[in-house]
Amino acid sequence: MKRKIIVLFSLCSLMQAQELDGKKIFETYCWGCHHQTAMAFGPSFSEIASKRTAEEVKAYIIEPEAMYKSFGYKRSAMTQLKLKDEELDAVAKYILSYKGK
Ligand code: HEC
Repeated sequence: MKRKIIVLFSLCSLMQAQELDGKKIFETYCWGCHHQTAMAFGPSFSEIASKRTAEEVKAYIIEPEAMYKSFGYKRSAMTQLKLKDEELDAVAKYILSYKGK
């Protein structure tokens, strides 16, 4: 009996890990304004990955208003998105996977 419960728990955590797929987060929150390799309303992920670190990417998502000047923009048109820490990590990793693409 105990075993079954443990198996069930590990299955659940596996499923949760899959939900935090950076691609899905991108499709849910960012796709309208960013594309992976082509310039859209915002810069492409390959461009972002070529010049930023994961920390910078996360900081920008958390608060574009506080960051745009240091990133060289005259103003910010990006909406502030309230993502959880795990979502930020996953989407930053996804963006950086486009480095050199
Ligand atoms: C409403 C449109 C919009 C949405 C939604 C949006 N962005 Fe942006 N984003 C922009 C624009 C436009 C810029 C260019 C700078 C600015 O205006 O703030 C930008 C800039 C950025 C930058 C900094 C670019 C650089 O120079 O390094 C990052 C990182 C970024 N976006 C990530 C994301 C991620 C990740 C999401 C989804 C979780 C997202 N954005 C959702 C429009 C958007």
